[in-house]
Amino acid sequence: MDIDKIRSDFPILKREIYGKPLIYLDNAATSQKPRAVIEAIKEYYEQHNANTHRGVHKLSEEATELYEEARKKIASFVNAGGNSQIIFTKNATEGINLVAYSWGRANIKAGDEILLTEMEHHSNIVPWQILAKETGAKLKFIPLDENSELRIRNGELKKHLSSKTKIVALTHVSNVLGTINPVKIIIEEIRKFNPDIKILVDGAQAVPHVPVSIQNIDSDFYVFTGHKMLGPTGVGVLYAKKELLNEMEPFITGGNMILEVKKEASSWNYVPWKFEAGTQNVSGAVGLAAAASYLMNFGMKNVLEHERNLTSYAIDKLSKINHLKIYGPNNLEKRIGVISFNITNQTGKLLHPHDVASILDGEGIAIRSGHHCAQPLMEVLGVEGICRISFSVFNDRVEIDKLVLAIEKAKKILR
Ligand SMILES: Cc1ncc(COP(=O)(O)O)c(C=O)c1O
Repeated sequence: MDIDKIRSDFPILKREIYGKPLIYLDNAATSQKPRAVIEAIKEYYEQHNANTHRGVHKLSEEATELYEEARKKIASFVNAGGNSQIIFTKNATEGINLVAYSWGRANIKAGDEILLTEMEHHSNIVPWQILAKETGAKLKFIPLDENSELRIRNGELKKHLSSKTKIVALTHVSNVLGTINPVKIIIEEIRKFNPDIKILVDGAQAVPHVPVSIQNIDSDFYVFTGHKMLGPTGVGVLYAKKELLNEMEPFITGGNMILEVKKEASSWNYVPWKFEAGTQNVSGAVGLAAAASYLMNFGMKNVLEHERNLTSYAIDKLSKINHLKIYGPNNLEKRIGVISFNITNQTGKLLHPHDVASILDGEGIAIRSGHHCAQPLMEVLGVEGICRISFSVFNDRVEIDKLVLAIEKAKKILR
């Protein structure tokens, strides 16, 4: 990958922060956008903007075609096996809420078990907590082992499953540890235990960084979010198996999701539109398709390799800094380019992650600090907060070298 060329695709990288060139290492929170995405959105508004699926005029036809073409592009990007299984949502969070609300309320009852993991983002915890509270179901969590992986080997996964387990909802990649969970193997094991258990995979941190084939993974539900994969904010995706989408009740209701409305009752539109009520984020879908094309031009294997090379380089450099602890799997093959760390002073006192991040910000370096919307995981790790860097296609080694110098500076200031 030609990193200089790639960097020139991202207009924001020309920015200076406090007079220093921007070093953006917060891609797991949201990624920056290449010109191809920005231009696709601009062109949509300048040339094709109209409401979709409604008008018979030319612009409405064009907008509808662009929106449905975007669905096709996303289906092919994640090898979904069919366009109608791709539902456009606002983000990954909405996709999970849709499943918890629509599938959950029809299928979960008192005493049932919902199995999550200790490394989930709040968006894959809170909707299930609410469902459990409403129905009297129970939440269970797969714990982590000492290498930041799920404790599922040697038959351990089965210990967390029971005849009451109705759904397993787990992240494909941890937003804090970078751990890539072996979701295909996990799903095979769950299906062997009981083929009726449904499985939701949260792919928010996987789709931007690793090749994803949903057909190969074979989950019942798979969600991801546009803004972390170089696309715009306000658009995400829920994939679900066709038979589930057909039997599920709608989540949000109103225009567009109906076939016919009478005064007293209505019938639902076909899948996927049954789950897309109201005017949709058409420009967002167009921008997301442009992001998928941009990534597909590199090939996700190459994206992963580039980001893994950076991860290896960064871990090597960071691990030479005294009193800096890196979290996540030791084995590079089991992680993506998300590196969380904490620093202590000579007496063992934690340098507050926000203080570290503020000093790095002064050097033009954007990193994330805090609980990363994963407070249960923070509790497991025994910390209140953590510093995190996360890579994308445009990052390079020079930025990591500058990060290391800035961390040394932060250590001196906070000593
Ligand atoms: C693993 C994971 N899941 C879900 C989400 C939620 O994404 P969004 O806020 O776009 O819905 C995030 C965001 O950080 C995430 O890292």
